Amino acid sequence: MHRTHNCGELRRANAGQTVTLAGWVNSYREQGKELVFVDLRDRYGKTQVVFYTDDDSKIDSLARRLRREDVIKIVGEVRYRGDGLVNAKLATGEIEVRVQQLVVLSRSKTPPFEIEGGELPNEELRLKHRFLDLRRPELQRNIILRHELTQAVREYFNQRNFLEIETPMLGRSTPEGARDYLVPSRVHPGSFYALPQSPQIYKQILMVSGFDRYYQIARCFRDEDLRADRQPEFTQIDVEMAFVERDDVLNTIDGLVSSVMKKVRGIEVPVPLPRYTYRDVMERFGCDKPDMRFGMEITDITDIAGASEFSVFKTVSSSGGRIRGLNVKGGSEKYSRRLLDVDLKNFVGDFGAKGLAYMKVAGGKLESSIAKFFSDAQQQEIISRMQGEEGDLLLFVADTYKVTCAALAALRNRIGKEQNLYDPASFACLWVVDFPLVTWNAEEGRYDAEHHPFCQPNPEDSEYLKSDPGKVRADSYDLVVNGYEAASGSVRIHDSEVQQMVFDLLKINSEEAERRFGFLLEALRFGAPPHAGIALGLDRWVMLLAGNDNIREVIAFPKTQKAADMLTGAPSGVDDRQLRDLHIDVVEPPPK
Ligand code: AMO
Ligand code: AMP
Repeated sequence: MHRTHNCGELRRANAGQTVTLAGWVNSYREQGKELVFVDLRDRYGKTQVVFYTDDDSKIDSLARRLRREDVIKIVGEVRYRGDGLVNAKLATGEIEVRVQQLVVLSRSKTPPFEIEGGELPNEELRLKHRFLDLRRPELQRNIILRHELTQAVREYFNQRNFLEIETPMLGRSTPEGARDYLVPSRVHPGSFYALPQSPQIYKQILMVSGFDRYYQIARCFRDEDLRADRQPEFTQIDVEMAFVERDDVLNTIDGLVSSVMKKVRGIEVPVPLPRYTYRDVMERFGCDKPDMRFGMEITDITDIAGASEFSVFKTVSSSGGRIRGLNVKGGSEKYSRRLLDVDLKNFVGDFGAKGLAYMKVAGGKLESSIAKFFSDAQQQEIISRMQGEEGDLLLFVADTYKVTCAALAALRNRIGKEQNLYDPASFACLWVVDFPLVTWNAEEGRYDAEHHPFCQPNPEDSEYLKSDPGKVRADSYDLVVNGYEAASGSVRIHDSEVQQMVFDLLKINSEEAERRFGFLLEALRFGAPPHAGIALGLDRWVMLLAGNDNIREVIAFPKTQKAADMLTGAPSGVDDRQLRDLHIDVVEPPPK
């Protein structure tokens, strides 16, 4: 063994022992001619090791040539640093090791950025030198947290009769709706596998096969536009259960969340987590993944505003639109006219709003360039509906329901953050249930599945399946954490006729349905138990628990926004020979 202890382990009780440590030179400091201090680092921590010139001149000259990130091994004696000399910032701060032997195991080139302290270079450079980046304590913590989370998840499911079952990577296109990553087949010229966007169909088939409780830490691949919380290749905690109803899944995941949060972060999450309907959160927060760490709910004043003399509000109200707003508590001093008329107005403009009306509550009345269009009684009504108090700032958007939702949800998030309305270290988890089954795709002239085509329509709404599909609710659910969609799932259709009805609705005709999902339809015809499931975005969970808002910080080898791996240079060209084997001709894209 190259070590008897790790670099985070030694304490005062070890004083007097001779130990062997190995690790990276984190920092290097000479003190005059007599002493060289090195902080030796490994994944467990740091230990100060000291070279005394008078111990051995050979060691001394070696020690003086050490540089950051060299890998060394030392043998030495543990010493208590002495009262008043303890370094409280270091877990091993009570001791240091007086070196008797030094072996340089490996030299390092000068690293392009500092591992600890110093300014972080741009992300591309970090990703290119990911092997160094991953040495940084933050990333080490994140990767370890990820491991702990994964283990806690496995333990939770294993204790409850779930089976961990792997499903293929090389498969058929799945229905999550993003673009597939395709893998050409050498054996079947012109045919392709699709990497799974999720194990959705396989896990349903496992239910038909009788494995009534399944989970998998599953890799998923989606060729879609990337954002800070999305990667082309990511990991789901994928779950499916048979002979269950919606609440059985929600309760199981409630238990998972509370047990995992407690285990990995010591946080008590009271369960059951609150459950809201889609319609309710859209009305109160304007989006289906509200950040519930703070209030500031949306309030509707369409009836009052429509009866005012302000023409914009009147027109919107009479054409079926809505006038909705937010109350920024104590906000009237915080937002200047310029901020309101330019910054915030442009901000909501990005979400389709044509303007942003604002009123300040002052002297028990409304103060605004448009206040004159409201009678005293209307002003009082608005103040009371908005729960306005002296000094509050009321912000309104008048538009279609959809635009008011999008604009006010974004505005709410922005103001919540910039006015510090919540503790960023806190967690607010909730369920959103009863999503619409389908949404109208005006471009394609058909309905799209809101989640995927296998969601059970809510039986209470079956009368609308033909007459008014947009009204049908799905038996589906999302788990939302701090404004992120952290998990998503549904009760599945387990009847091939209902499945065909939904395919019809999505204009997937029976031929296409047979071609794309025939094997699932066929499985459903052989005795399918009622089943339901969910998938949690593992990377997003780790990101949230790490207090980060960049998913790449919790993935060992992530891809850039352009889906490139800076470390290995993937994707890359391949030999002509390989292309020939795969029966592929590459057509050069036209120059831009
Ligand atoms: P869905 O597509 O909603 O559902 O995905 C489930 C969860 O996975 C996470 N997620 C992602 N995380 C990182 N990068 C991405 N590109 C990405 N896409 C999704 C999200 C999301 O909530 N088969 C269904 C689940 C089911 O019905 O059981 C599915 O995949 O946190
Ligand atoms: P105007 O009369 O167009 O100058 O608008 C007066 C105020 O109403 C300005 O603050 C506008 O930003 C605001 N406003 C205009 N259109 C809308 C709208 N659709 N919703 C909310 N406020 C609006």
